[in-house]
Amino acid sequence: MEYSAGRDRRSRLCCLLGVVAAVLLCLGTAASGELTDDFYDDCCPNLDRIVRARVSAAMKAEPRMGASLLRLHFHDCFVNGCDGSILLDGSNSEKLAAPNLNSARGFEVVDAIKADIERACPGHVSCADVLALAAKYGVLLSGGPDYDVLLGRRDGLVANQSGADSNLPGPDDSISDITKRFKDVGLNTTDMVVLSGGHTIGRSRCALFSNRLANFSATNSVDPTLDSALASSLQQVCRGGDGNQTAALDDGSADAFDNHYFKNLLAKKGLLSSDQILFSSADAAAATKALVQAYGADSQRFFCDFGNSMVKMGNIAPLTGSAGQIRKKCRAVN
Ligand code: HEM
Ligand SMILES: *[C@@H]1O[C@H](CO)[C@@H](O)[C@H](O)[C@H]1NC(C)=O
Ligand SMILES: *[C@@H]1O[C@H](CO)[C@@H](O)[C@H](O)[C@H]1NC(C)=O
Ligand SMILES: *[C@@H]1O[C@H](CO)[C@@H](O)[C@H](O)[C@H]1NC(C)=O
Ligand SMILES: *[C@@H]1O[C@H](CO)[C@@H](O)[C@H](O)[C@H]1NC(C)=O
Repeated sequence: MEYSAGRDRRSRLCCLLGVVAAVLLCLGTAASGELTDDFYDDCCPNLDRIVRARVSAAMKAEPRMGASLLRLHFHDCFVNGCDGSILLDGSNSEKLAAPNLNSARGFEVVDAIKADIERACPGHVSCADVLALAAKYGVLLSGGPDYDVLLGRRDGLVANQSGADSNLPGPDDSISDITKRFKDVGLNTTDMVVLSGGHTIGRSRCALFSNRLANFSATNSVDPTLDSALASSLQQVCRGGDGNQTAALDDGSADAFDNHYFKNLLAKKGLLSSDQILFSSADAAAATKALVQAYGADSQRFFCDFGNSMVKMGNIAPLTGSAGQIRKKCRAVN
């Protein structure tokens, strides 16, 4: 696992110096085997515009789609690295793993983006890179930070269903389990807290948090770290259902990418247990709580750190050079 330290340094500098400096500092070329921000500049100059247009259209039809695309990139990167493996259909498909089944969404949008790209610049752009860019525009068009995605990933040849089951964190995992899953892919506690801020957009099904709500007719909540007014409104949402009804991960600011998610954690209004424990768990390190407070107080710091950690997550074990392939269609190997 390696990621571009040079790029990371530039990216941090961008936070300090602002947009003008960012443009000037992004001209460097990376050594071979590393991802770069100008990888397709010659062979697919309109790449960004194509992805942005498709994501924008999809989000006009359904604002939630930005969140769904962000999550797909995360679930791709945590299993065999960011290699587009989550997009593969078939018997060992990661789509059938517990964290993704009836849950991961946005595959049709990825297919549509890829089809546009294949028309414009056939055979050049990997599905793994399409997903990284789709996630970026999902964030940006929801109002989030504009970070530079590094490109040059190639597509994996296999899906890994058991890997998806074992590597992806679950909503009822302890803080030490979640920390370990991030550490296993080279991400530290800061990355874990700031990337959890991805839950500033999107929805969760009741099945994944209703264990925090006592029984669905009660107005009191079993989980003492859940605000009681939010608990009773969630009980209404989830009552009598099959667990497939959804609620906003960021109550009160569902589709806007902002630091309201962290403000909610300070007020016991995190939706998932895995959200709220970042602030409320007795096991939460002082550092984790302090980060929640810092991001809740300073949206610029959240945006800046989120962009940096997205670049870092996007650098989990990429296939480069002649490894893997450039898939023609994202659902199957060539
Ligand atoms: C820290 C550990 C994490 C856990 C335990 C977790 C768990 C979950 C769960 C249970 C859902 C709802 C799934 C469903 O309703 O079927 C969800 C949704 C989501 N997650 Fe996470 N997640 C984590 C980290 C992340 C990270 C790092 C990102 C991205 C940077 C992310 C982005 C999202 C988004 C955007 C959604 C909403 C998707 C949609 O509305 O379609 N999550 N997550
Ligand atoms: C699947 O993922 C697991 C966990 O990361 C890993 O140990 C295993 O080698 C992967 N298998 C394949 C076939 O890639
Ligand atoms: C996590 O890594 C980043 C660099 O990628 C660093 O700036 C940050 O201080 C680290 N956080 C912790 C808690 O080690
Ligand atoms: C379940 O609901 C009943 C009736 O609404 C209530 O009296 C009871 O306290 C609830 N149980 C829990 C664990 O909240
Ligand atoms: C939710 O919907 C899926 C797909 O329609 C269905 O298979 C499942 O049984 C439903 N219920 C739960 C609790 O997930």
